[in-house]
Amino acid sequence: MPKKQIYLTGFMGTGKSTILNCLHEICGLEKIEMDEQIVREEGMSIPDIFAEKGEEYFRNLETNLVKRISAIENVVVSCGGGTVMRQCNVEEMKKSGTIVLLTAEPQTVYQRVKGSHDRPLLEKNMNPEYIGGLMEIRRPKYEAAADIVVKTDGRTAKEICLEIKERLKLDDNQK
Ligand code: S3P
Repeated sequence: MPKKQIYLTGFMGTGKSTILNCLHEICGLEKIEMDEQIVREEGMSIPDIFAEKGEEYFRNLETNLVKRISAIENVVVSCGGGTVMRQCNVEEMKKSGTIVLLTAEPQTVYQRVKGSHDRPLLEKNMNPEYIGGLMEIRRPKYEAAADIVVKTDGRTAKEICLEIKERLKLDDNQK
């Protein structure tokens, strides 16, 4: 059995929210989508939070939320793509759970996110070159935080979830 929380991390567009929903269905785990919870609690979209309050304010909301999540029981969590960039978040996550890093090639990420306007960091840089560059800058932190790494290119959500379930030895209907 893994430690209680399962944290899904990875660059934008690596499928964290999709895998969250799939794990929720397959294993019966309660789920938290961090971005969605922040939007609900702030009553503002992510682009509006970035534009009106700034990135630092958003990062502080993430840190506050990670602390609250680490204190509850047995949930699967989809983190924001930048959550593990702060070492204090990683420490809180490591204490309370297992960190699963989802990866995808820049071209795959681009195909998945190109039609969306929810990601302020990519809004003016929506191309595979920029995505690949930012991914390389972030890679050491993603990899250092990860307990397991799961590739997502060309795979279905079900296949990815079954791999996570197998590697973390999750039960069918874990509560
Ligand atoms: C961010 C990723 C986004 C969101 C915000 C910042 C990042 O989440 O938290 O736009 O810094 O990588 P997703 O990875 O769910 O798109």
